[in-house]
Amino acid sequence: MWEETKEITEIVLRAARKASQEPISQSEQALPGKAIHWPVECAIGPGLEGAIACESKVGYVNGLQGQLVYRGYDIFELCAYSCFEETCYLLLHGRLPTSSQFGSFRKQLAEYRHVPKTLRLLMSFPVEGMNAMGALRMGTNLMRQEFTFGDLEIAKPDIAQAHESDEDTISSEADPGDKAESFYSFDTTNTVVLTSMEETIAVSGSRKPAKGIRHQEVLQDTSSLDSCCHLIAGAPTLTAAIARIRNGQMPIEPDPELSHAANYLYMMTGRRPTEIEERIMDIALILHADHGMNASTFAAMVVASTLSDIYFSVGAGIAALAGPLHGGANEQVIHMLRQIGGPSNAKEWYAKARARKEKIMGFGHRVYKAYDPRASVLGPLARHLALENKEAQVLFRTAEALEKEVIADLGQSKSIYPNVDFYSGIVYSCLGIPTDMFTPTFAVSRVAGWCARVLEYLKKNRIFRPRAIYTGRLGEKYIPIDARHSAGKPSKR
Ligand code: SDX
Repeated sequence: MWEETKEITEIVLRAARKASQEPISQSEQALPGKAIHWPVECAIGPGLEGAIACESKVGYVNGLQGQLVYRGYDIFELCAYSCFEETCYLLLHGRLPTSSQFGSFRKQLAEYRHVPKTLRLLMSFPVEGMNAMGALRMGTNLMRQEFTFGDLEIAKPDIAQAHESDEDTISSEADPGDKAESFYSFDTTNTVVLTSMEETIAVSGSRKPAKGIRHQEVLQDTSSLDSCCHLIAGAPTLTAAIARIRNGQMPIEPDPELSHAANYLYMMTGRRPTEIEERIMDIALILHADHGMNASTFAAMVVASTLSDIYFSVGAGIAALAGPLHGGANEQVIHMLRQIGGPSNAKEWYAKARARKEKIMGFGHRVYKAYDPRASVLGPLARHLALENKEAQVLFRTAEALEKEVIADLGQSKSIYPNVDFYSGIVYSCLGIPTDMFTPTFAVSRVAGWCARVLEYLKKNRIFRPRAIYTGRLGEKYIPIDARHSAGKPSKR
């Protein structure tokens, strides 16, 4: 794999060697792999800091050593030798695929990448004026509708009954003329109603029922591996379409010849990427795919633990990822670097920001107390892409200067280093992704981790229900409203 982009593989391997030489502050306490005997003792801080919510084989973040592992494979290995589709298979299935398994998986992703009816529904909303993550979340909900019903062959209204209506909309203005029907006749008289997917497959031999057989709102299994593939495949199509609609352009159909990463850039920019651009996009997708029990993954799992479904779980993940403390930081970093304006301004800018006790976007991490291995890869890739891009060169040199200031000040004292969001924005800018689509791009990758962890958790599901320490009043007596004079001081407890 990736024969034509060996220089990028070398950049990744160099980053791996450099990371392996970093001094380790302390060794990780709990070694992974030991079976957990519940209940476990752990010191818990606000925001569930330190809490152990479940056991997992999907991925492991060793924060003290700056190590990230997916299903036992170090992230540097996967970036150097694998690809995003194969990494998705690994996260979902727990092992690397054989070539035939990989072939069928890619074929399924290619099929599910086409979401025409979902896009048509999405475009009936004012996407151009919506928050990009809000539009993406809407899109995944619409995908749920299409997957459960709309995309099925039988769900398409019988066009012969329609009079001058286009396929997806019912023409309310069409003149009935001499035809009995000017609208689709959802004629269910002589159709067999199927009420389950099993019945469909039994009768029509596939998931798509033969003509004349109608689904009665058959809700396909919306928390299955199939739905996960649907979301992993459809997310880039939705995101690229949202970017184009916001730019006043029409969406572009995926190209079956292109890889996941290449298709994403092609559907976004309208230009097929170079091999180098495709490879760097692919590595960025691998790096963002999974990351332990981060806020958006936890949000997705909480929703799934109520036995809701994967579409709603992914919607919750998208909502959580949108926050600037989480996935939204990549956009903030670019705004920050542009505001600094150049490497020579970094020192003064940083001093002022610290005087205002501001948190520096793209730095710090709840788990990493060492350099984020993802930033170790994205930094050199940003440098490589910036060689051909004047604006990116200024951004990159500004980022390097700022990194030096922050690490000198907070590295040793507070273990604050660049995180995944610090260099990713420069990479995305060079690849032609608009700044307001950086966080949705994060989601395009993280949907794989959300799905893998939801599928794993559902195997031994237990609804998440933490507690809070109550510090409020007790023993209050009800006072009728007429007897309440001023905004009463509460009675002393
Ligand atoms: C992601 O969880 C994941 O794995 C997330 C993620 C993933 O892949 O899913 O890795 C992706 O979200 C990366 C983080 C992107 N966010 C940012 O870059 C925003 C800036 N970073 C900070 O907001 C912060 O570092 C967090 C939110 C990332 C982590 O915050 P914590 O663990 O809650 O740390 P904290 O706020 O309790 O800070 C501890 C100390 C404080 O100083 P003191 O009050 O003790 O004096 O460190 C300081 C903070 O002020 N600090 C920072 C800082 N981050 C923490 N000081 C300056 N700049 C920062 N960025």
